[in-house]
Amino acid sequence: MSTTTTKKLSSEELFKNIISHAKEYGYVFQSSEIYDGLSAVYDYGQQGVELKKNLRDYWWRAMVQLNENIVGIDTAIFMHPTIWKASGHVDAFNDPLVDNKDSKKRYRADVLIEDYLAKIEAKIEKEVSKSRERFGETFDEALFRSTNPRVLENQKKIDEINDRFKAALNANDLVDVKQIILDLEIVCPISGTRNWTDVRQFNLMFSTQVGSVSEEANTIYLRPETAQGIFVNFLNVQKTGRMKIPFGIAQTGKAFRNEIVARQFIFRMREFEQMEMQYFVKPGTEMEWYHLWKEKRLNWHHSLGFGTDKYRFHDHLKLAHYANAAADIEFEFPFGFKELEGIHSRTDFDLSSHEKFSGKKLQYFDSEENKNYVPYVVETSVGLDRLFLSVLSQAYAEEILEDGSTRVVMRIPAFLAPYKVAVLPLMRKDGLPEKGREIMDILKLEHLCIYEEKDAIGKRYRRMDAIGVPYCITIDHQSLEDNTVTLRDRDTMEQERVNIDQLEKIIDDKVSLKKQLKKLM
Ligand code: GAP
Repeated sequence: MSTTTTKKLSSEELFKNIISHAKEYGYVFQSSEIYDGLSAVYDYGQQGVELKKNLRDYWWRAMVQLNENIVGIDTAIFMHPTIWKASGHVDAFNDPLVDNKDSKKRYRADVLIEDYLAKIEAKIEKEVSKSRERFGETFDEALFRSTNPRVLENQKKIDEINDRFKAALNANDLVDVKQIILDLEIVCPISGTRNWTDVRQFNLMFSTQVGSVSEEANTIYLRPETAQGIFVNFLNVQKTGRMKIPFGIAQTGKAFRNEIVARQFIFRMREFEQMEMQYFVKPGTEMEWYHLWKEKRLNWHHSLGFGTDKYRFHDHLKLAHYANAAADIEFEFPFGFKELEGIHSRTDFDLSSHEKFSGKKLQYFDSEENKNYVPYVVETSVGLDRLFLSVLSQAYAEEILEDGSTRVVMRIPAFLAPYKVAVLPLMRKDGLPEKGREIMDILKLEHLCIYEEKDAIGKRYRRMDAIGVPYCITIDHQSLEDNTVTLRDRDTMEQERVNIDQLEKIIDDKVSLKKQLKKLM
């Protein structure tokens, strides 16, 4: 195997390069680019749509196919407006906003405070890594964190700010939220001043009209989460599917939020896709299921093979209006650990509220208990776009090869890769393209394959590495004599000679989704 080294890039440089690579190789485009784009809205290109589809499929199969008691549905984006009153989104789905009077820039107050806390946390991490370097193998990190005076002092600061901030948000005390910003002497990154407006709440839902614009009653919302489509169909699915508690309903689809702080590429978008599952359980058992689903979802992320140290749990400081417990699975993006998925114990809040607002019973008859009740719900909710970004962040690498040349490679796990195979006749003559086409016809029935006969073979390999194609099949003159081809592995760059008759089986095995799903069992 050839030795390669991965170039060390600063996190800013890495993120910038990932964004431009995503555009250059057809993964993600800025929406409406020829009109200078639309902030926080993105389009997926020819590679992106495939990666997204494969991620969605892996999630769907892990949920719906591997769990006999989970079924899927697909509900409309538009729903009766009262649904959003019942769910609490009309009254409580807000972000606290603050403007800087000098720069005229608008910020989320909570983000300003979180960024401030992240800086203190970075100081702690610096202290820890300095000592780790100094003491090497003998370094006891837990002891250091619990005894070093500077770490303790900084941790105390973080805890105090967190407690005060949490109390202010829970009490909806926006005056104190502003006071925290002032007390911490947080300045606007643009103007550098502390000339802040009062903090106020801003509802994140987009609204539009159905039918006649003049009738106010026709205002409807673009759903800010897919979950409500599941709740209002709870009885339809339970009855038609003869579902017994505990059972789950899964759904994937678009959601819309008027995000004020649009940044970090596809991390925070105004139009995005969610993959959600509501698990309906007996009241009183919800914590058991909550912990189980936390573990199950973390395992699913770990199964992607990016390293367990890339993920961590973060328990929510401020619970959403519907939850009695909530945690995020955070992923280490190039810009730090951030929320990738939420797991929420939503109690009976949604179903009970829909009962109240609709006047219809949304109860389950438990034949073992011989009584009716409103089930409790544990929800898992992951953003498909964030998941996509986590894959790009982890797959992208700039490498220096043994001979001093460089390559950019997207080490996307083979079962998720947009194209599985590239078929590359060495020359555009002597019957090699015809042989290539024969191979395409065998493989394309099962896999998305790319055929390329232009350019020198080395250049074509580089392009396939950059796209993230895990396997290249090269047809040369020997292929016509002994029916063999070269199979090249993207990650190791190793090549082996294989018989064309074996190709189908070999590729099926290497990119198998079935093998991947087995890891979850
Ligand atoms: N039904 C619960 C719910 O919607 P959430 O924590 O607000 O919970 C769930 O959202 C997931 O949706 C997040 O963990 C994130 O991955 C994704 N998400 C939320 N807002 C997003 C945005 N503006 N852009 C991209 N993904 C977003």
